[in-house]
Amino acid sequence: MHFFQYKGKKLFAEDTDIAQIASDVGTPFYLYSYKTLIRHYNAFENGVKLLPHMVCYSVKANSNITILKIFINKGWGLDIVSGGELYRALMSGCPPNKIVFSGVGKTDEEIRRAIQAGILMFNVESSQELEEIHKVANHIGEIARISLRVNPDIDPETHPYIATGLFKNKFGIPYSEVKEIYKKANNLSNIEVVGISCHIGSQIIQLQPFIDAFKKLKELYFDLKKMGIEIKYIDLGGGLGIPYKEEEKPPHPEEYGSNIAKEASDVDATFIFEPGRVIVGNAGVLITRVLFTKDGADRRFVVVDAGMNDLIRPSLYNSFHQVLPVIKKGGKETVSDLVGPICETGDFFAKNRKMPNFEKGDLVAILGAGAYGFSMSSNYNSRPRIPEILVKEDKFWVIRVRESEEDLIRGENIPDHFKEEQ
Ligand code: LLP
Repeated sequence: MHFFQYKGKKLFAEDTDIAQIASDVGTPFYLYSYKTLIRHYNAFENGVKLLPHMVCYSVKANSNITILKIFINKGWGLDIVSGGELYRALMSGCPPNKIVFSGVGKTDEEIRRAIQAGILMFNVESSQELEEIHKVANHIGEIARISLRVNPDIDPETHPYIATGLFKNKFGIPYSEVKEIYKKANNLSNIEVVGISCHIGSQIIQLQPFIDAFKKLKELYFDLKKMGIEIKYIDLGGGLGIPYKEEEKPPHPEEYGSNIAKEASDVDATFIFEPGRVIVGNAGVLITRVLFTKDGADRRFVVVDAGMNDLIRPSLYNSFHQVLPVIKKGGKETVSDLVGPICETGDFFAKNRKMPNFEKGDLVAILGAGAYGFSMSSNYNSRPRIPEILVKEDKFWVIRVRESEEDLIRGENIPDHFKEEQ
């Protein structure tokens, strides 16, 4: 559920006319709805309320510091995967003891900064990483809290690029090896073992893979207990899917939480969840304007001013995003391709789809763009990155300005050697 709805013929974000925002800030831009974020926050909290828990919102889904601050204000922590995300987390005022650090390739520098900041724990993805964290912690005379990320070999039945919990994926430590590594971790002077973690993939629309993964973690939890290793945190990662198409029915957070709770009655640990998409995905839209239409020999092309550099999901995963007119004009629909201005055939938002008969100058809303939209955007084709706008009721704020052309070459320079023709 989201708060991008028509009032008459006009698409509104909460109580704000989207066409009005477009004329104020220009196109394209990302637009987020505060009320939708809060609705999803409440749904998730309510869903997991039967479990002792802490939610660490996954920064990578939408990393804007205002979005982070909204969740931090509500008491959530953050799941980070880089020094840059650590910086964002701290700049947004996240208490360090609510930060978990995931990811397969942490550098010494990132590890040191995270330890010194006092994060809750590292989700460790390999034996080598464990040794490195120990080395860094030892060097600076600190103790690093860790959990091991287990690869439970469970098929989340999602797009292969976003499945992470299978043995063929690079993530986590194989289930069969993990106890040995726990033993090793437990004997390292500057390591404190506090948790078990996993994350099996993203945009998962079945409940069963989550339950199966938890069952494996639970078995491990009891085995570790027998080995004298007390686990305080069980981190189940993120991954809950959202309905990109109206007919899609992913498990509701309530169903997810209550089913985990059913399996968890004999577990004495705090559960950590790292949701991203389910919180921000449908709380964001991409607003773009039609530059041209082309009636090709084969089909109609609607060329808009946003491109795959702004929203890469359709090109990368062939993902579906609903397309709506910002102002309904009626008339017949046509089968068209909605494409961007980039010099790539993969630069599309919708293909061969029945959509309004868009014309030059019309505004188009691309839905479900709040997660992995702006955060995956780039400057490809030397296009300045677009602004992010947050709406609350009838007010809106620019929470990231449109980049300038100066921004495009920031940090670049022409060495004297090349200033004159050689
Ligand atoms: N925790 C970890 C360790 C993760 O790797 C991820 C996402 C999450 C939590 C949050 O997962 P979520 O709740 O959002 O599913 N770019 C892709 C998605 C990549 C997901 C990467 N990891 C997309 O646009 O679909």
